[in-house]
Amino acid sequence: MILTVGNTKGGVGKTTLAINIAAARAKQGRDVLLIDGDRQGTAQTAIGFRAEREDLPGIACAAYPDGSILRSQLLQQRGKYDDIIIDAGGRDSTALRAALILTDVLLVPYRPGSFDVWALEDISELIKEARSMRDDLIAYTIINAADANPHSIDNREAAEIITDYTELAFLSTPIVGRKAFSNAAGGGMCVQEYKPIDPKASAELEALVKALFND
Ligand SMILES: Nc1ncnc2c1ncn2[C@@H]1O[C@H](COP(=O)(O)OP(=O)(O)OP(=O)(O)O)[C@@H](O)[C@H]1O
Ligand SMILES: [Mg+2]
Repeated sequence: MILTVGNTKGGVGKTTLAINIAAARAKQGRDVLLIDGDRQGTAQTAIGFRAEREDLPGIACAAYPDGSILRSQLLQQRGKYDDIIIDAGGRDSTALRAALILTDVLLVPYRPGSFDVWALEDISELIKEARSMRDDLIAYTIINAADANPHSIDNREAAEIITDYTELAFLSTPIVGRKAFSNAAGGGMCVQEYKPIDPKASAELEALVKALFND
């Protein structure tokens, strides 16, 4: 399956989640390719650290920030991996648009707080545009770096406002802001691999992966 983690808004956790999801799938024994679609190359650098760890299952990684190259590479490589995870770069990038045409599933993380929620308008437009060319694009959204208190006003507001965006299906189990997510991703790992294990973070990522892959 091809999964794209994308949002036109920066800093919402695209790279953090893409790495955590890719590593969680590799840990499940899947053959994974992680595509860094961002010129900053953060995901590729993190996977470089992972490669030094012989105890962890490997993840293939490539950087294709250019949309037309991403598209041609996806067409060539999609049959060769169990899962392809794309960290689609920032604002309206060509990589994001190219990914939306070929991906099976899009995951749109956003943070609680009005600026991020407004930005959902932009990604919704891109999803609409992609769906005019293909009607089978599945698009989910999830609150990332949520408040640890599930009843916090920020979390509630963020969950309520999403109902205005009908292009996106809301995943109701959030990813909370936890050091484990950022620390794990920095080393090219998922929270289930990063020691000491944070059981709450592990449970959150497990629920997300289950919802996305449904296998
Ligand atoms: N669930 C989380 N818990 C704790 N920290 C997080 C979480 N998600 C993201 N972060 C931190 O927030 C910052 C931004 O995350 P990240 O780089 O993944 O966002 P991005 O959407 O890829 O940003 P960019 O648009 O710059 O590529 C990073 O410092 C990251 O470690
Ligand atoms: Mg990023």
